[in-house]
Amino acid sequence: MTTAELIAAAPRPPADFNPVDQQFIANPYPMLDRLRQECPVFYSPDFGFWGIVRYEAIEQCLSDFETFCNGAVRFPPVPDSLASRVPEKFFSKAFIAMDPPEHTKYRKAGNQGFTRGRMKLQEEPVREIMKEILDEVEAKGHCDFMQDIAYTLTVRTIMALLEVPAERTEQMRALAEDFPSIVQDGIDPMPEQERNERWGRMVEAREYFAGVIEERRANPGPDLLSEYASMRDENGEYLFDTQRLVTHCTEMIFGGTDTTANTMAFALRVLQEYPELRQQILDDPSLIENLIEEVLRYQSVTVGIFKTTTRDVEVDGVTIPEGSLCWLTLAAAGRDGERFENPDTFDVRRENAKDHLTFGKGRHKCIGAPLARVEARVGLEELFKRLPNIHITEGQDLKFQEIMLTNVLKHLDVAW
Ligand code: HEM
Repeated sequence: MTTAELIAAAPRPPADFNPVDQQFIANPYPMLDRLRQECPVFYSPDFGFWGIVRYEAIEQCLSDFETFCNGAVRFPPVPDSLASRVPEKFFSKAFIAMDPPEHTKYRKAGNQGFTRGRMKLQEEPVREIMKEILDEVEAKGHCDFMQDIAYTLTVRTIMALLEVPAERTEQMRALAEDFPSIVQDGIDPMPEQERNERWGRMVEAREYFAGVIEERRANPGPDLLSEYASMRDENGEYLFDTQRLVTHCTEMIFGGTDTTANTMAFALRVLQEYPELRQQILDDPSLIENLIEEVLRYQSVTVGIFKTTTRDVEVDGVTIPEGSLCWLTLAAAGRDGERFENPDTFDVRRENAKDHLTFGKGRHKCIGAPLARVEARVGLEELFKRLPNIHITEGQDLKFQEIMLTNVLKHLDVAW
């Protein structure tokens, strides 16, 4: 069958399916359940992608990296006024946009930055950052959890890892916000003025990183950026050329900020939903580790990730044509009853909570997962120690960012 025939024959999602709508983003689970039951593989003509919803099918796609590749990402449009300052196809050098063998080579080097030893060393700096943040807000009795606590913790943690100075915090926060919108621009276009502003800020941040990388090559320190910048290949050349490393810095700032911050916020939402859980956590803080895994499963910050097919492939009885953009709904995988018993119940002692796919699986599995786990655990330990009664303020209207990759809140009022 031709591509057009396969698309015409494919199941369609319900008419009210809209993955960038506030209602879906605020609570995607009712729609994801319907999709799992009615059309576990579907084609959305409105968005031009295929959706894959069952845990087992998603796992199969993630294991078959030759068929479901990352490399064929749609490069978002660059504003003309900035074209001369944007290296050609720089995005294709991101870890998330490479395929083997190129990906294998750089990922092997990248992993050296996230070893158990280095993560153990990160624990104290993360604790210190969290304590400083809490010192600032404690006397107020209330704050915006996202802006005053969670994003500050997550961006400063990555900045500490790369040794980016504190005065750059706002620039790094903006970068974390601009990057996903720029990526999504290829699928769901944004207004021109917004595009110019977001690209303008990103280009400036890239130029900053390029300068720092050159400095670190000359004077390496103990930080991760120096380590990456100093790595050599088999010919004695720098392993990462400057633009490649700039791109990797950008994806670490983006990858490590919203995701971990919202996982922490979702832990607070779960405590609100299950009040008896708070006392259990306060009595036994060692439960925090599993609390985080169960939060990642139950309220996955990654709604779905995109891959492109390199051949016609059958998934759950539906043939997806070569060259198709596929949305693997990691959030739906976490609530799949075939994998998790009583999937819609939050169980802090769930034994297989860690089987969630929220960090992905296989070759592209989140490189920062060990850091995210340390950060969320240490962050929540300090939070509950200092503000045991912290709770989400009733009656606020939660507004999520309208992106398909992640489930991201920018504000969350809390009090204690
Ligand atoms: C709760 C926190 C986090 C979640 C849920 C998360 C989720 C993910 C997912 C699902 C992927 C795989 C995408 C794919 O298969 O295409 C990924 C990749 C990645 N993440 Fe994370 N992430 C988190 C934290 C972090 C942190 C702290 C960093 C900082 C270094 C980070 C950096 C990256 C990078 C660089 C990749 C690309 C890896 C590759 O393609 O080889 N992430 N993340």
